[in-house]
Amino acid sequence: MKKIITYGTFDLFHLGHLRILERAKNLGDYLVVAVSSDEFNAIKGKKCVYPFEHRKQIVEAIKYVDEVIREDAWEQKKKDVKKYNIDILVMGADWQGKFDELIELCEVVYLDRTDGISTTQIKHEIKNKKTNMAK
Ligand code: CTP
Repeated sequence: MKKIITYGTFDLFHLGHLRILERAKNLGDYLVVAVSSDEFNAIKGKKCVYPFEHRKQIVEAIKYVDEVIREDAWEQKKKDVKKYNIDILVMGADWQGKFDELIELCEVVYLDRTDGISTTQIKHEIKNKKTNMAK
């Protein structure tokens, strides 16, 4: 059984999130998703619309996802890879090269982001009352 792990905030869940989870799952058999806690987001300077518990439940309901854990710190990845017997760590290409030190523990794969969508952009579009998301 090939186990995959990926990390993210997943606020205002959108198609880019769905696509990366689908592609991550297709690399193996069992997908663990670490969702950033509200406390960790505060460290990163991120403020979510949805609290952790809502983001966790939404990600848990995605058919590609087998297990959701909580992400509380940058250094937790090494421990997670060992604890969950991970074969592949998947990150979005926005993190290209940033987690290469984990190559000693597992395969590290960076997947391209889906073009033209992000939580930041959605927040911006709602604020500016743009409605092109319905296309
Ligand atoms: N992601 C993706 N394609 C997008 C947006 C996100 O593949 N268009 C991936 C990221 O690379 C990451 C995961 O989805 O692996 C979770 O990303 P997250 O930071 O929660 O989403 P963003 O929409 O990028 O949020 P923000 O704008 O707040 O950075």
